[in-house]
Amino acid sequence: MKYDFDRIATPRGIGSVKWEHRKGENGLEAWDATEEKNGRRQVLPMWVADMDFAIAEPIRRALAARANIPSLGYTYRTDAYLSAVTGWMRRRHGWTVEPDWIAMAPGVVPSLNMLVRTFTQPGDGVILQPPVYHPFYMVIDNNDARVVRNPLRLVDGRYEMDFDDLEAKAADPAVKMLLLCSPHNPVGRVWSEAELSRLGEICNRHEVLVVADELHADLMLYGSVFQPYAALGQAFADNTVVCSAASKTFSLAGMHTANIITPNPALREQVAAGLRKAAMFGSNPFGAAAVQAAYDEGEDWLEQALAYIQGNVDFMAEFLAEHLPQIRLIKPQATYLVWLDCRALGLDQAQLEDLTLNKAGLYLDEGYIFGEEGAGFERINVACPRAILADAMHRLANAVGP
Ligand SMILES: Cc1ncc(COP(=O)(O)O)c(C=O)c1O
Repeated sequence: MKYDFDRIATPRGIGSVKWEHRKGENGLEAWDATEEKNGRRQVLPMWVADMDFAIAEPIRRALAARANIPSLGYTYRTDAYLSAVTGWMRRRHGWTVEPDWIAMAPGVVPSLNMLVRTFTQPGDGVILQPPVYHPFYMVIDNNDARVVRNPLRLVDGRYEMDFDDLEAKAADPAVKMLLLCSPHNPVGRVWSEAELSRLGEICNRHEVLVVADELHADLMLYGSVFQPYAALGQAFADNTVVCSAASKTFSLAGMHTANIITPNPALREQVAAGLRKAAMFGSNPFGAAAVQAAYDEGEDWLEQALAYIQGNVDFMAEFLAEHLPQIRLIKPQATYLVWLDCRALGLDQAQLEDLTLNKAGLYLDEGYIFGEEGAGFERINVACPRAILADAMHRLANAVGP
């Protein structure tokens, strides 16, 4: 089936976070800034990582079928669900996952929160590689652990890990965990086998648990190949807990269904205890049905979506090079979140925000929310119809001016 990615699938009035809200002082607040005036949308929301595309038809069918079963009691994993997850990991990533390694959870962030709580004591250090997905800071703060920064380095337009710094940070006995973002949000890096092995060897040597957030693993662009952390070898599998979900891949974030995959039985017991302690039980019937259908029957849709997204990145790269060379696009190897280096505009943070939001009418994620290393950058979500992206680029060019 040929899918149409040129249309926005989200109507107003369904409570969409992306389209009907913005970040406020105390969490989300309702926002009507996307209203049209004089035929122009006031603000284009290109922030939170949701796609604008309609979900894959097999998922829609599976949800409709599930809605026809008049029983919505507590739901836990079935063999069919587990086989969909393990089949996907084997087919797409060459990773053999045993069904009993998998625990279901209501999301990756709640899982990370539970894992920090389970595997650290107050005051323990947790290594992050900023600029990085901002809730990573939150889950550490929530549990009175301590953020230990191992910043990525931008070398010739590509982000790299700083292994010497990592070695020094991991050597501190109070450092107990590293939160790995693989692939990396927001810089779009797909970490190579060599990079991950080097990171893992350092962490193993210093008994630092690697919690691998592999949520963006399926969103490979430009022929990149994802390396599952736990598939690096036994020593790596033994010292990791992996968080995974179909939610970014298939735009199912609202389903609140994720998987925690723990190959090591001793760690798995601790994860199970942590889930109980956090009262994180099971899933929901629609989430389970959607994930199962996505993994079993969604590949065709995903391939088309990725081709469209890559076309969007190419379009944006060409547009910026031609019309806005002051804004440098960090070419993503994965994800539909593109990291824009706006430092050459010479604006401070307030001026940059004023430019993007008030002058251009684009609601982006400001770089600094990912850590101080992100100051002067913006993250833009390009999982949208190309016409929206073209509108956004023209708005930006007009706002910057000649
Ligand atoms: C790296 C990463 N982890 C976790 C999440 C959120 O996961 P969940 O919605 O399952 O909590 C996101 C969302 O964009 C993300 O980019």
